[in-house]
Amino acid sequence: MGQELNSVNLSLDFLSVCEAAAIASARTMGQGDRKYSDHVAVDAMRQQMDAVPMRGRIVIGEGERDEAPMLYIGEEVGAGFRVAPELRDEYPEVDIAVDPLEGTNLCALGANNAIAVLAASERGGLLNAPDIYMDKIVVGPSSRGAIDIDAPVKDNLKAVARRLGRDIEDLTVIVLDRSRHKKLIQDVRDAGARIRLIGDGDLSAGISAAVAGTNIHALIGIGGAPEGVLTAAAMKCLNGEILARLVYDPERLGVDKDKVPPEAEVLARLSEMGISDPNKIYDTNDLAPGKKIIFAATGVTDGALLRGVRFFGAGKRTHSLIMTNESRHIRFVDTVHVEGGPDTVIRF
Ligand code: FBP
Repeated sequence: MGQELNSVNLSLDFLSVCEAAAIASARTMGQGDRKYSDHVAVDAMRQQMDAVPMRGRIVIGEGERDEAPMLYIGEEVGAGFRVAPELRDEYPEVDIAVDPLEGTNLCALGANNAIAVLAASERGGLLNAPDIYMDKIVVGPSSRGAIDIDAPVKDNLKAVARRLGRDIEDLTVIVLDRSRHKKLIQDVRDAGARIRLIGDGDLSAGISAAVAGTNIHALIGIGGAPEGVLTAAAMKCLNGEILARLVYDPERLGVDKDKVPPEAEVLARLSEMGISDPNKIYDTNDLAPGKKIIFAATGVTDGALLRGVRFFGAGKRTHSLIMTNESRHIRFVDTVHVEGGPDTVIRF
């Protein structure tokens, strides 16, 4: 038996992990090389991860061990693996889901809403989701329990509007701008809500839907399943809700059959991961069942919720969100990373 995870104590360490990834990738902003931006984020996140006093295991990461050299699924990270074996029990076991750079294109283009993000929990607290697509609907606390992933878009928007005490016309829905969403976009328009079409980044969009004042009221549509698990971890801390279902049918994805792995292959992979019902509707707790959840995100480029990294002569400044479901603290952290000498002026 090892130490129990104290999510509050570890949260500042995880904040530093996200800050490191954000700073590294923000340096590459606008250079047009998404792979490089991602690479430096992964590198920085991996390095900082070993300073966290834990025995961490990556459950959602950069891919399988043979395709990702760092932060691969199953990789052991944290200071607890760098000490003598007899001391290891002093370090809590932690499952970790990472997206060192969510919105690689956004960073490469210098567009808004790229973030560095991770979620952590006690062992088994985050679904080991496959890297396939997921249909999602994400709403804030007041709309919890009012949505149904199988209901017509209009009905869901009516329910959200009712809970928010406004008209559908006063709602803003975020949708990834993809051809697979042609009907969804038309349905939202027909229902009368406003739409914000985004090029990438449905994770930060989902978080915004759960924070009042962002003027985002729902995220609907198909994005990555790993992003869905990370969104669920954020929802646990923000009292929002995500409903989701895995998608691998080429017709639903609006692509030719040869663009996605064959169904039999996907089903075999899902069953290997312990997912016996590929059509299951997941709610927030199914995706992030952990009793102790930590969620951390740092802005890479400016966004609806977080400012991007700012560089100045004597250092840099980051803006992050760090929260745990245990402490019920939602912290927006503005950090100045001072690199200059004793005369460095810190601005408010
Ligand atoms: P990356 O961070 O890997 O670039 O993903 C960005 C993203 O837009 C996610 O936010 C979203 O879930 C997914 O890609 C959508 O996938 P696709 O671009 O294939 O439609």
